Amino acid sequence: MNKKIEKVLNNQIEKEASSSHLYLSMASWVESKGLNGTAKFLYTHSDEERFHMLKLIKFVNERGGRADIPALKNPQKKFNSLESIFKKLLSHEILVTESINNVIDVCLQEKDYTTHNFMQWYVSEQLEE
Ligand SMILES: [Fe+2]
Ligand SMILES: [Fe+2]
Repeated sequence: MNKKIEKVLNNQIEKEASSSHLYLSMASWVESKGLNGTAKFLYTHSDEERFHMLKLIKFVNERGGRADIPALKNPQKKFNSLESIFKKLLSHEILVTESINNVIDVCLQEKDYTTHNFMQWYVSEQLEE
């Protein structure tokens, strides 16, 4: 696998992993406030991000690269309100979308159309988010 592509995909693995971690922290906070419906939504969202991470890990390894399992920073643990959680979630998703767009840019620069094609799934996913 092209080293530049491997590097941006490993960066994306870290983004998906830290998203999963952040949403898990949000789910836990919300659950501790007795908001079980929202907690369920956030736990599911955290699982989805973990799935996004796993899909990237498998792609990198199966194409002859080496997926890096990243160390994760402490996620934010306290939140002011449900509204602040959803604002934070939206701004985080915008950052993830920018990061995916960067992967796409590198794919085009490196003429890696296979990874470009693979990444289209993430482009559609971010549209949904
Ligand atoms: Fe994701
Ligand atoms: Fe997401």
